Amino acid sequence: MLTQRDFVEWYLANRQRSRALFDLLDPDAYFLKPIPLRNPVVFYEGHLPAFSTNTLLQKGLGRPPIDPHLDRLFARGIDPADEASARPRVPGAWPSRAEVADYGRQVDNAVVAALDSADFDPGDRRLTEMAYAILEHEAMHQETLCYMWHELAHRYKSPPPEGDPPAPAAGGAAATPRVRVAAGTATLGVAPTAIPFGWDNEFPACRVAVPAFEIDVHNVSNGDFMAFVEAGGYRERRWWSAEGWAWLQEKAIAHPHFWSHQGSGWAWRGMFALRDLPLDWPVFVSHAEAAAYARWKGARLPSEAQYQRAAHGAPGGEERRHPWGDAPPDARRGNFDFARWDPLPVGSCPAGASAWGVHDLVGNGWEWTTTPFAGHPGFAPMASYPEYSADFFDGQHYVLKGASPATAAALIRPTFRNWFRATYPYVYATFRTVGASDGAEG
Ligand code: AVJ
Ligand code: FE
Repeated sequence: MLTQRDFVEWYLANRQRSRALFDLLDPDAYFLKPIPLRNPVVFYEGHLPAFSTNTLLQKGLGRPPIDPHLDRLFARGIDPADEASARPRVPGAWPSRAEVADYGRQVDNAVVAALDSADFDPGDRRLTEMAYAILEHEAMHQETLCYMWHELAHRYKSPPPEGDPPAPAAGGAAATPRVRVAAGTATLGVAPTAIPFGWDNEFPACRVAVPAFEIDVHNVSNGDFMAFVEAGGYRERRWWSAEGWAWLQEKAIAHPHFWSHQGSGWAWRGMFALRDLPLDWPVFVSHAEAAAYARWKGARLPSEAQYQRAAHGAPGGEERRHPWGDAPPDARRGNFDFARWDPLPVGSCPAGASAWGVHDLVGNGWEWTTTPFAGHPGFAPMASYPEYSADFFDGQHYVLKGASPATAAALIRPTFRNWFRATYPYVYATFRTVGASDGAEG
């Protein structure tokens, strides 16, 4: 069980990381909208403290508002379905950066004081749910910030001086491109009493029988995906869902969002610079593109249950906490927890492989699944944030599993689920395929 001190320290460490992310940006970027569907940068600097005060201080502890206007203005900022329904805003409609910073400081002082006070009992499930919720919410938004910043022109950003750690020895091709995962049971979700905190979509436990299937040992790489691009894959209607095809036409999309043309070849649009396209990095694409590639290959994406079985199942029938076992996540197991800004070559972290020998299931990019985001049977919205998941149970969002380079280690657990629309190309999301040849259906 976490102590009050642990909660305070986690909160302060989170705030420091968020501040470091905002500090990467040129002040001129503050009112820009790096992603048209999302709010401008200023919103996120206000949203993090607003969520903390609205949830823990007001809802949880019955404390008064910090600033009723800003608490509301920054309360919620979810991607709308299309640009037309995005909240229209002009720069003057937002408070100044100094006002937002001042608001953040007031919230920080109040949250730290509350977590440290006799009113916050770490044995009180209702209150700790709110404390975990604000902490994990901030960690999730740090990833949002990274992929938003990614969209800004390089002139608006400066890399932190310390630079990335050296890359481990390159991964290289697998001896066999796919492995067989035996038939068995996958546990999705968990009983609410079994873990200190989970989001509502992680509950309750649900056991699913999964027939045997074959799954790629490695994520589909930029090099693999280039074969699809060069074969004219983006111009052939038959590989695409109706939604995916309409999206390609409307936005004139002809290649992955993270690629750009460079002379006669391709570049990778990195966070801070362009570089020659690394052919051995996982390709980052939308669900629509991943599914089109899979169809072109005569394969499909894994279902959530297949992912779970490949990542957490084992030939002996037991289920593991992490693909590699019980040891806590660290840099040898996968590329996550903000260790670097970019992916690593596929297969760079053999110490993180699953019991079946499948690499990079956690880290180096979220993994798309065929599973529409929905509650497990018996789902109930959480008290602290009832809209968190239920607002997206619309058949238009797909489950992603695993982690990306910008996913905090605190979010790595077998039941954690992410979700986005099929045509959302901004996230650090990759995929692998499963064999359709043996009749295994997802
Ligand atoms: C779980 C990452 C899809 O960013 O839309 C943040 C998380 N929800 N604030 C999102 C979230 C509310 C959510 N994802
Ligand atoms: Fe949020």
